[in-house]
Amino acid sequence: MSIIELTEEQRMIRDVARDFAENEIKPVAAELDRQGKFPTELVKKMAELGFMGIFVPEDYGGSGMDTFSYVLALEEICKACASTGVIMSVNNSLVCEPILRFGTEEQKREYLTPLARGEKLGCFSLSEPAAGSDAGSIRTTAIRKGDYYVVNGTKNWVTNGPEADIIVLFTSVDLSKKHHGITAFIVEKETPGVIVGKKEDKLGIKASGTSQLIFEGCRVPVQNRLGEEGEGFKIAMHTLDAGRIGIGAQAVGIAQAAFEEAVRYSKERESFGMQISKFQAIQFMLADMATQIEAARLLVWQAVIMQDRKMKFSKQAAMAKVFASETAMWVTTKAIQIHGGYGYTTEYPVERHFRDAKITEIYEGTSEIQRIVIANEVLKEFS
Ligand code: CAA
Repeated sequence: MSIIELTEEQRMIRDVARDFAENEIKPVAAELDRQGKFPTELVKKMAELGFMGIFVPEDYGGSGMDTFSYVLALEEICKACASTGVIMSVNNSLVCEPILRFGTEEQKREYLTPLARGEKLGCFSLSEPAAGSDAGSIRTTAIRKGDYYVVNGTKNWVTNGPEADIIVLFTSVDLSKKHHGITAFIVEKETPGVIVGKKEDKLGIKASGTSQLIFEGCRVPVQNRLGEEGEGFKIAMHTLDAGRIGIGAQAVGIAQAAFEEAVRYSKERESFGMQISKFQAIQFMLADMATQIEAARLLVWQAVIMQDRKMKFSKQAAMAKVFASETAMWVTTKAIQIHGGYGYTTEYPVERHFRDAKITEIYEGTSEIQRIVIANEVLKEFS
């Protein structure tokens, strides 16, 4: 229950996502995690449900809903499986969003439409081995040669990197110009010179693929440039603002899952002759968990409502992400504590939620980066 009233369409997509997550994702989530197996079938079904391009207009193959609808659906998917959720969120927020906003009509027809339909999968490639938080220092170059740019460099931490068909890639056309040289492209993975590098073995979100992408003399047509030369940094920042709301929703989903497990367990488990839910030590934890989750969800909703209203939302997105991700980490820790020794084993899902929560404090901008964004905005407001 919330005082924010959802439209019929928003309730509908949340309920469809909830049923799908509960009936089809949750039963297989632990096994996907154990095997580190990309959920091909689930992604196909998400495409059929219209979840791979929720806010993309129907003209471009999407579901034509608002971004709030996307966030509602994403929380439900992530509650069942954060790996499946991040595959969906990268395709929507980090790939469809920048092409929809900055792409040409031809780029939208050629790339956005199959991405939004889920016929193709996208990834977002900004970070490098020596440039993560300091995104303005990327070293991958794109040198123009007539109708092509020749791209060379190595990218790191690319979610969907091993499986994606389409890459939204950030390069520099002139390293001396620092962030003013950064230029974005839409690159087909099959282009000669694109190599999928090391696949990471991770602590959590194990069923989603994360890899390096290496570009060796890769020729990208000029018509695949996204925006103008030098506009790439702003495209990346805008895209990440939007993406961070999605990661906030993912974190809320993970926290909600762990919380519900903790409530259930506390009512089943007996200790000292009674259910452990009767102890104030447990009740205080549950009360704080519920409060933090609700606050996190409201911050996520505030940010997405502002995005849908076309207001400036960088600060609210950063607040939502940092608060929701730290809530997810804290709530999942307490959920394990309530389960005691059982919570530390793979017999119960809370250890998976705990492992999955950690990445939400890191990707799409660490908690420290979110605090920098918030502080910059706050200081501007009071200058
Ligand atoms: N929207 C539009 N423009 C923005 C902006 C925003 N939100 N934030 C900054 N800018 C503009 C500024 O106005 C400035 O423009 P001018 O030069 O024209 O004045 C320019 O960008 C540079 O701004 P800053 O000086 O503030 O830039 P900075 O170098 O200090 O960096 C930062 C700012 C916030 C730290 C930024 O580098 C950042 O967000 N870093 C984190 C990167 C990140 O989140 N990486 C995750 C990658 S994706 C991933 O995790 C993998 C995955 O697959 C999921």
